[in-house]
Amino acid sequence: MQLITGKAKIAAVLGWPIEHSRSPLLHNFWLQRHQIDGAYIPLAVKAEDFKNVIQGMKAAGFKGCNVTIPHKEAAYQCCDIVDETAKKMGSVNTLWFTEDGKIHGTSTDGDGFVANLKDADVTLTDKKVLILGAGGAARSVAYALLQDGAQITITNRTLQRAEQLVRDLGAGQIIEWKSWIKELGQFDVLVNTTSLGMEGKDDYLFDLQHASNDLVVTDIVYVPRVTPLLKAAELKGLKTVEGLGMLLHQARLGFSKWFGINPVVDHELTEFVANSL
Ligand code: ATR
Repeated sequence: MQLITGKAKIAAVLGWPIEHSRSPLLHNFWLQRHQIDGAYIPLAVKAEDFKNVIQGMKAAGFKGCNVTIPHKEAAYQCCDIVDETAKKMGSVNTLWFTEDGKIHGTSTDGDGFVANLKDADVTLTDKKVLILGAGGAARSVAYALLQDGAQITITNRTLQRAEQLVRDLGAGQIIEWKSWIKELGQFDVLVNTTSLGMEGKDDYLFDLQHASNDLVVTDIVYVPRVTPLLKAAELKGLKTVEGLGMLLHQARLGFSKWFGINPVVDHELTEFVANSL
């Protein structure tokens, strides 16, 4: 058993609510695996308290934290140093505090998404990717796909949000929400970034009848682990990539910043976290 001593390195995840977060499980799994004297704790923080909590954590010697809904934009505002990805997103999900007193931040969701596809041997350069959705998650995914040389097309129930996203990214095509099912045949990869198919929501019938046989289908929803979209794809015999891997991969950078070790995403970790879903 790994005990926490007076020298322990401490990190946290801040959200409101926070009970649903799987991040403590996965970071503490890595801490145990690597026998690190440290802990990663969930903190339920209201929006109005967020800035004070960040300053308090810094003063108390925390190494850093993850942030989730609703704090990603506020966290960006708290940072002294951000990278290009964070600037493009206008939000961050990973903060680390350095000894010079600075708060660093970045958004690791997009890299996590791409790493998850690469783990499944999906290459993205010059691939035509259709993104369902134009919210915050779509923004991370779209930016990372562009960085990797993919050609992206965005479709969204509210067309104006898709138009805004393409404007902000300076790249990408748009198709109307009512047309994506018919247009699917021209794409190599389909990614769902909407909440459609999430547990507790109405089941949505994903119609993949026009998909080519080579289409790769992925979902950033991971509860349930096999989403309605992935089920529809499996029924058609298409290659699928579960969203859980994105959660695991996006966590790696923070862990390495706080605890000094680059952790890996493997079968044992995936099944351990999947058992909590
Ligand atoms: P996130 O940060 O997780 O992306 P978000 O910004 O609230 O969350 O975006 C949610 C996405 O799911 C949006 O693309 C939203 O479409 P709208 O922009 O039209 O709201 C999409 N979405 C949610 N419920 C939907 C539904 N019932 N049908 C189609 N799209 C839906």
